[in-house]
Formats: sequence, structure tokens, C-alpha cells
Amino acid sequence: MSAITASHLSKDYGDVRAVDDLSFTVESGTITAFLGPNGAGKTTTLRMILGLVTPTEGAAAIDGRAYTELEKPITKVGAVLEATAFHPALTARTHLRVLATAAGLGHARVGHVLDLVDLADAADRKVGHYSLGMRQRLALATALLGDPGVLILDEPANGLDPAGIHWLRGFLRAYAHEGGAVLVSTHVLTEIQQIADQVVIIARGALVRQATLTSGTNLEDLYLEATR
Ligand SMILES: Nc1ncnc2c1ncn2[C@@H]1O[C@H](COP(=O)(O)OP(=O)(O)OP(=O)(O)O)[C@@H](O)[C@H]1O
Ligand SMILES: [Mg+2]
Repeated sequence: MSAITASHLSKDYGDVRAVDDLSFTVESGTITAFLGPNGAGKTTTLRMILGLVTPTEGAAAIDGRAYTELEKPITKVGAVLEATAFHPALTARTHLRVLATAAGLGHARVGHVLDLVDLADAADRKVGHYSLGMRQRLALATALLGDPGVLILDEPANGLDPAGIHWLRGFLRAYAHEGGAVLVSTHVLTEIQQIADQVVIIARGALVRQATLTSGTNLEDLYLEATR
């Protein structure tokens, strides 16, 4: 059973077919780069996998189950989506504690994930005053709160400083090494090339290329050729 399965996913928004009969899997212990031009349907696909958008056709599963059928989903899958909204008046620590309580988790993980994303020093400031990169770190901390085995990340490096990007690469590599599955959308090919095992490239909603990456692969060439 795959950690993530997308099976003939399609999504129509009125006349626009945002995702078109898309199928792929992500295995435990691997990182999949999910690539495609602006508007290709990446975010829509990730939202369908997370049960936030209902597919017009097809289905998605995490560990063999639809997201909505997972028990304690926060412990199965963590997600960082575009434009994550946090309550501006809460501190990062309070935000994470509220979530931990709602999910029936102890507060012990809160300090741990704040340390992981290097947000401990700012943890007691209001999120409304956070910079873009700090919000992105908090989104990652939120995704990791339930210690899930699957991570779904939509442009997670957006706004991160060079040290943060370096940290994220190392973190994801270690996470996959310990058996985690990662599906990550990005436009920064040079960054993802260093850690991805597999690439899924879509254009106008449909799969145009799926490949295993080897040390010899030039991801930029592969991408440009596939999306030409
Ligand atoms: N809620 C919505 N209502 C109508 N159309 C939508 C909606 N969400 C997405 N779309 C359309 O679906 C298509 C795919 O959008 P999506 O956000 O999935 O692309 P993307 O690959 O994530 O792009 P980017 O790289 O810019 O983030 C676009 O044509 C977009 O306009
Ligand atoms: Mg997107």
C-alpha cells in the first residue's frame, strides 16, 4: 500500500478542467517533487488529497484511506498549503497548543516542533506580527505537530531564508530516511533536485512526465522538455 495514492483525479471549476485524470503514488521513505507551470493544478491536487476539495472524478488516499476516513488525521499526515491563515492575535505557542488539545495530543510536542523549525525565540509573539518566513516555519511546525508519516507541502520554501531552506532540505531528507513520505510542490528545481527521489510533472492538469531521479538527472532539462 502506498503512502499517498492519487487515482484518476479530475477537478472541474466551471469550464476550467483544473486537474485531468491524474494518477500517481508516493511510497514511504521517498520524496516526490510535484512540478508544473503556474495554474497547472498542483495546489488543487494537493487539496483533493487532503480532502479540502472534492474531486469531480477519481479519488485520493493516504495509507489506503480517504483523508476524511482517517482516524486522528493529524497523526497520519501533515500539510503546508499556500497562504496558510493563522489567527493573528494568537502566539505561535498558543496556536500549537490549541491544535494539540483539539487533536487530543499532549503539549509536549509543542516545544519540540517549535525547536525543530527554529521558532522557539519568537514563539510567544503574536503571529499577526510574523514575517512571511516565520509564518512558513509555523506552518511547518503545525504540519509536524502530530508526528505524521506523510507530509504534503505546497511551496514550503516560499519566504524561507537561505539557512531555512538549507534546514528544510536536511530535515526532509532525514524525514524520508526514517520512513516518511513527502509530496512537495515547488518551482525551485535546483533545491528539490538535491533531495527528490521521484518527480511528477503536470501541465494543464494532466501528467506530462513521471520519472525516478538519479544523480545524473538534470531536473531543469527534464522539466523544460516535459512542459514545452
Ligand atoms: N477555487 C477555484 N475556483 C475556480 N478556479 C480555480 C479554483 N482553484 C483553482 N482554480 C483554477 O484551477 C487551475 C489550477 O490552479 P492551481 O492553483 O491548482 O495551480 P498551481 O499548479 O498550484 O499553480 P501555481 O504554481 O501558480 O501555484 C487554474 O486555472 C486556477 O485558476
Ligand atoms: Mg499552487
